[in-house]
Amino acid sequence: MPSIFRLEVGADRLATLTFDSPEKKVNVFTRAAFQELEEVIQEVAARRDIGCLILLSGKAGSFIAGADVEEIARVTDPVEAEAGSRAGHRLFSAWESLPFPTVAAIRGICLGGGLEIALASTYRVASDRADTRMGLPEVRLGILPGWGGSTRLPRRIGIAEALDLILTGKTVAGRKALKLGLVDALLPDARFLDEVRDFALARRDRPRRDEGGFDLKEALLEKNPVGRKILFDQARKKTLEQTRGHYPAPLRAIEVVRVGIEDGVKAGFDAEARAVAELATSRISKNLVHVFRLTEDAKKETGLPGAEPRPVNATAVLGAGVMGGGIAYLIAAETGLPVRMKDVRAEALASGMQHAAGLFDKQVQRRRLTAPEARRRMALLHPTLDYSGFGRADLVIEAIVENMAVKQEVFAETAKHVRADAVLASNTSSLSIAGIGERTPHRERVVGMHFFNPVHKMPLVEVIAPAGADAAAVNTVFAFTRRLGKTPILVKDAPGFLVNRLLMFYSTEALWLLDEGYRIEDLDRAMTDWGMPVGPIALQDEVGIDVATKVAHILRDAFSERLPLPEWLDKAPESGRLGTKNGKGFYRYDGRERKDPDPAVYGLLGLHPEVSNPDPGAIADRMVLPMVNEAARCLEEEVVRSAADVDLALIFGTGFPPFRGGLCRWADQEGLARIVGALERLEGSVGERFRPSEALRATAAAGGFYQRFPGGQT
Ligand code: NAI
Repeated sequence: MPSIFRLEVGADRLATLTFDSPEKKVNVFTRAAFQELEEVIQEVAARRDIGCLILLSGKAGSFIAGADVEEIARVTDPVEAEAGSRAGHRLFSAWESLPFPTVAAIRGICLGGGLEIALASTYRVASDRADTRMGLPEVRLGILPGWGGSTRLPRRIGIAEALDLILTGKTVAGRKALKLGLVDALLPDARFLDEVRDFALARRDRPRRDEGGFDLKEALLEKNPVGRKILFDQARKKTLEQTRGHYPAPLRAIEVVRVGIEDGVKAGFDAEARAVAELATSRISKNLVHVFRLTEDAKKETGLPGAEPRPVNATAVLGAGVMGGGIAYLIAAETGLPVRMKDVRAEALASGMQHAAGLFDKQVQRRRLTAPEARRRMALLHPTLDYSGFGRADLVIEAIVENMAVKQEVFAETAKHVRADAVLASNTSSLSIAGIGERTPHRERVVGMHFFNPVHKMPLVEVIAPAGADAAAVNTVFAFTRRLGKTPILVKDAPGFLVNRLLMFYSTEALWLLDEGYRIEDLDRAMTDWGMPVGPIALQDEVGIDVATKVAHILRDAFSERLPLPEWLDKAPESGRLGTKNGKGFYRYDGRERKDPDPAVYGLLGLHPEVSNPDPGAIADRMVLPMVNEAARCLEEEVVRSAADVDLALIFGTGFPPFRGGLCRWADQEGLARIVGALERLEGSVGERFRPSEALRATAAAGGFYQRFPGGQT
């Protein structure tokens, strides 16, 4: 078997241990790695020729990525999960107790188990290169740092800072790590190995750490029990607010950190192991691991088979509005490519540029970009009222008004100003891509590239391939989406594509519930409690009631009796209620801040809010089950390629609760028999629109979405 760790001991008593998992891009702690490390520790502990041991990575781009996610995915027995945690404690404690100092030399990512062994090392040093990031992301998989991290980190950097890292799973760069005391030195990357050796030589044969570090006794709030209680209580309150009780791992982590601080290291380790036993085998963790794997698998997708993407070296954006401005900013910020931004109105260009400048300013404030770098990127944006510069563009992204005739004309016009092989992409949210390209020469290069609002935040882009599209053009958009840091999902040119179609069935049902006398706040609370980031009625306000209504009509035309609309639907936008953007909608606003539901809405729409004690479970079923029904149709019609793509698209495009693993995964776990039965009952009691689709029945008969439409590894 090829070995994972390589030990070299020099005449100067400096030893290096290089972690280099064969056949893996990054180092992860598999069982095999643990076993080998245990043998290495036994060997080096007995040697007398080592004065200091440096832990290095053999991978050029990263240190250690953490535990093997596949092993976390597989574990179903709490006893086995607990044993896995205790094995880590034993191993890293043995590492910590070596008779000479150890130095973890961190370059690139250092996550989870990687940071836990670093914390058990006598010293940590990090390279100053930009991609050096350290963190404990375990809560994102529904577990907590269970190889000593929850116990050692607060001892190293203090309780408050440790909780901040452990409860959010966020990562910190080298400079921040130095400030926190997480690393002892930040070393220039160009001379990293030499500097690490110098650092180690200076500490050779000094058995114990006798410098620096965080002193718990010095921290005002943390040194006394009352102060600590306040800290833990605040963390609990904030976590509950953020997770609405759906994510048990961070709450459990607070408790484990507390035990580790108050009752000592051994008690901390015990608490870690017990928590891991429960959390790692829970459904929520399995669902979060599932989502993690979907995300990883999606990175390997390339679009349509049989064609390479074309290089993109220059771009243009049509429309400098909400979406166009956001897209132009994103291109400059993420790819460093020049962007022409064209609009028909000078004021729109000015506000588009201002929008971009504002986003760059925020990046500078957050220290993600230096001010000169932000200025350099901003200078990549070239506003224009004509087509100058379009001749150089490899990709044009259109984000002008949602009007078929106008888009057709603009595409035909644009085609005259770009090369015949330039890819023309539309960000339309509801129009047919084939229709938009109808008057464009070489219309096979017209593709959909559907972003979500706000562009810089939402991680999904639907890449729409109309029938007859040039695969290279589609794959160019696919690859470019990834360069923008977004996840592309390939979908067919069908009404509403995937996300808006499913969402429309959900939000229209919310309107029908209003029609039946439910209150706005009851509907929104039921769904945010279910885990959605915003309630369906508040979402209408956020999208814009005018926009939502327009799309509703377009999709109603496509799906007819499956998507009936309440007859009062147009009254709200007609009365000037547009939602958040004009501070008037289903809710009242203070500026852009949403307050309480506006009772005047009921009168305006002729509604009678009279349902008392609504059943949140029944409300959720009413809205979520039509999405499940429609998802089965989308898969059957091959609008989307797999259940995995549906799940990822809804999580990334709408904030569908990750702890539920995605819509299809949730439906499979609920059991499609129950869902079909519930839809049949709703068909009888509410209306025909609930009739289970043949596609759903067939999916149920096949054993579920992931059985019938598998994707990824799960
Ligand atoms: P917007 O109204 O903010 O911006 C549209 C811009 O296009 C305006 O600045 C207008 O002056 C400009 N424009 C109109 N005709 C033009 C032409 N011939 N050439 C160049 N510019 C022209 O609209 P928004 O919200 O940015 O939407 C743009 C597109 O993106 C629409 O197709 C919409 O369906 C789609 N979309 C919108 C989303 C949203 O949440 N706002 C989400 C996803 C897609």
